[in-house]
Parts: sequence; C-alpha cells; structure tokens
Amino acid sequence: KKTKNQILIIFGASGDLTKRKLIPALFDLFQQKMLPENFAVLGASRTKLSDKDFRKRAAEFLPENKETQTFAEKLFYQPVSPHETEDFKKLKKRLEKLSADQKTDANYIFYLSTPPSVYGIIAKNLCETELSKSDEFFRRLIVEKPFGADLESARKLNKQLLKYFNENQVYRIDHYLGKESVQNMLVTRFSNGIFEPLWNRNFIERVEITSAENIGVEGRGGYYDESGALRDMLQNHLLQLAGFVAMEPPVVIEADAIRNEIVKVFQSLRPIPEEKVPENVIRGQYINSTIKGKKIKGYREEPGVDNNSRTETFVAMKFFIDNWRWGGVPFYIRTGKKMPARVTEIVIHFKQVPHHLFNNSGEQGPIDNQLVIRIQPDEGILLKFRMKTPGAGFQVQTVNMDFHYSDLSEVRLPSAYERLLLDCMQGDATLYSRGDAVEEAWKFVQPILDAWKNNPNIPIYGYPAGTWGPDSSDKLIQNGDWRYPCKNLSNDGTYCEL
Ligand code: BG6
Repeated sequence: KKTKNQILIIFGASGDLTKRKLIPALFDLFQQKMLPENFAVLGASRTKLSDKDFRKRAAEFLPENKETQTFAEKLFYQPVSPHETEDFKKLKKRLEKLSADQKTDANYIFYLSTPPSVYGIIAKNLCETELSKSDEFFRRLIVEKPFGADLESARKLNKQLLKYFNENQVYRIDHYLGKESVQNMLVTRFSNGIFEPLWNRNFIERVEITSAENIGVEGRGGYYDESGALRDMLQNHLLQLAGFVAMEPPVVIEADAIRNEIVKVFQSLRPIPEEKVPENVIRGQYINSTIKGKKIKGYREEPGVDNNSRTETFVAMKFFIDNWRWGGVPFYIRTGKKMPARVTEIVIHFKQVPHHLFNNSGEQGPIDNQLVIRIQPDEGILLKFRMKTPGAGFQVQTVNMDFHYSDLSEVRLPSAYERLLLDCMQGDATLYSRGDAVEEAWKFVQPILDAWKNNPNIPIYGYPAGTWGPDSSDKLIQNGDWRYPCKNLSNDGTYCEL
C-alpha cells in the first residue's frame, strides 16, 4: 500500500509513551523504509522545548548511529498548551511552514498521548483552527486509551470527539490489536478448514484467556490506583481478544466488516447483574511477600497508591456470549500484575470424547484437547492431544504439536505500535476500536464497577506477588482448572521470571 506524504503531530510529546513506544516504532518504520518519502513528526506539549531538545530526548531511546541522526532530522517541536487557542493558531502556522519546507502536503495525523481529560479541548481547538477537516488532504485523530473511565464518561468522550471529527477520522488505539499473534487469529480461524467447523458450542467446552504480567505498577501508581485491572486491561485489551475469538467470519477483511462482527459479539455479552458479580468476578490485590529471599513490596506500598486502596491488580471473571455460535459456552478471563510470568494466551478447550474407552489407563488429569494461541511472549500455536504411549496395553498420554513464530526466523515481528501507526498513515482502521464497540464493552463492565462501588463487602483478596492470583479465582471454573502456562511451557528457564 502507498503511504502518502504527511506529518504526525504528537500531543503529549514530552511524555513517557512518546519516548518508550512512539519514537522507537517510527524509527523502526524508518529503518524498514516504510515511512513516506516526505515525512515529519511534530512534537507538541506544554513543556517549552526546541527542535534540538526534542531530538536529543528522542535519541536517548534510539541506538547511537548515523541512521538515528538522519531520522532525528525529521523531528520537530512546537510548544502547545491544550487550552490556549493562540497556541493552536501558532501550531497551524508552524504546520503550514513545515509542510512547505518538508514537502509533505497538508496530510496530518494528530496523536493524542495526553491525559484523557484534555482530549475534548484539543479536538475542539483543532476544529476551531480549521485543522480537523480539509477537502483536499486527510486529517486523522489517534486517541490513546483510556477511552473514558465508565460507560457515561466513554459516551461523553465519544460525543465530544464526534462533534469535531467524523467517526472515520478517529483511530482509537488498542495496542493488543497491533500484536502479530492477535491478527494471526483471523488467519488461523478463517483460512484453515480444520478449525472453523469445530469453532462453536457443539465442540468447544470453554474458552480461557489469561494475560499475566510479572511487573507491578512501575511508577504509574497514581494512574493505576484510579483505574485497576478491570479498566486497565479487561475492558479493552482482553474483551477485544475475546471478540477476535468469538466473532463470525467477516464478509471481507476490511475495517468496517471486521468491526461490525466485533460489535455483534459485544452486544451478545450476557450482562452480569450487580448482585451476581461476587460469584462471577473475583478481584485481588498483590500483597507484600518474599520471593527467593527477596522482599517484594505489596501494592499498597507502591508510590502514588493509597495505603488502604481497594483497587484490584488482579481480576478473573466468567461470562457467556448469548448467540447462536456460543450459547452455553463459558468464557473465562483473568489478568493480573506481579504474577509468576509475563504471558498472554487463549486456550480453546474442546469437548471430551463421548465415551472414555481408555479410562484409568495412563495419565490422569484434564483429558480435553486444547488449542493454545500464545499471544506473547514466544508467539505461536500449540495443539494438545492424546496419543498412545508405545508398548503393551493402552496407556494414553498428552502430546504437543507446537508452532513457534520464532521458527520463521527470517521474519521480524513488528512491534504493535509500528504496525498500528503505519495502518493509520495508510488510512486502514481495521485494527483500531470503533466508538460503538468501546461503548458496548463499557456497558458490559459497568455493573461490575457499580457492584464494587456500592457494596464494599465484596471481598478483594490478597495474593502474594509471584502467584497466579487469589485461590478463589480457581473456583470460578467448575469442570477443570485454569491452565498454568508457566509449568507447561518453561523449557529454557527464562519464561518464569519471578
Ligand atoms: C497497557 C496497560 O495498556 O497494557 C498496562 O495500561 C499494561 O498496565 C500493558 O502493563 C500491557 O501491555 P503488554 O503489551 O506489555 O502486554
């Protein structure tokens, strides 16, 4: 696909995300020669910086070489305060000059990497300075999560943005959708004759999604304490993953066709009434503990976190998708910080055989077939099935058919931000969330937020750092256990880090 000449304007350019994710992703695109011929990045935030200062800051996160220098020449900076209309007039002038100097045309992407509280005012000021629309050139707006903190604020935010931009100009980034292995799910499902016929309630017993992190809140205590795992991970990243697992085949591989199917899944999520929350949703918080003789701080001791905080750093839930394909199939999702490993995976548990001919022979334990889609790390797909142990009698054992992306060693996996930035530059919104889907996801999560708020007696279980969360989350699954990826996959000793 051709990428038109353009300028990327990053609001909140002096922040962490710009340094850690955006600049490195742009640099990778530059190295791969995937940026358009004429291209510039204009950093914009309150901090007063010169072009030179901004380049210097950016370079800290890039390798020291000649390419970095050439890349840095594409970086510029303009101080802008979100509330100052005068600053936006200056921004407009600067953009006109920059596009003339750099021969980029007046195609602009505005990337909002600021606190969400100023999204609305930035969109308004862009509109009022006539930067949000153009007949000749494209104007796009990328918005970082969180898209609201609950259903009401999400609706309000969408309304605000759509007052100044059209929906097809708004790109809501969910970086999980930029992960190679998430996109591969579409290919796995819709280009293999063997899986699709089995992908329904007739053959699938349950679906399990785990996204564990071994890190804690890493200096983001202030933000996280207001947010918690449900808002930070489940409402967005994990429901999107569930959407990809559960969606119907789209008519074509195009943004709206795919996003229509995702919305239908979200519309079919069976609401969990407030009074049923305790039995379907388990929340936890990591407490101080000792791992291999090393003391690990509990969540409440993290900087920026309230000493009596009841914010969850772990959440596990059971839910159903009430539609033709998934009627009666339980979905289980869990996510948490300070768990034993960094691992995100989806496990499809197929139904057992109707009659156990080989009962009591060979290994005990779960005897369902599992398809494990490993999102990260060690991206790949694993199929677990039962085979005869060689020798006398009929001893049965489970074996693995295991594909690792790393086996395609010549292929470099692009980072999620790299992929998503390039898509937006090319006008492809397939891997971005649409406003209605975001609202549907909040609608589903809202009663859980309400229950926790209105009923302080709902427990929040402590779990020691380095464990798979509170024991109570095990009880959610009636006929079996969560899969413990760490035990099963750690073969090189690097997988379980805590
Ligand atoms: C972010 C959350 O959206 O995703 C973080 O705000 C979390 O709390 C991160 O750590 C996880 O992303 P990844 O790509 O490392 O799994």
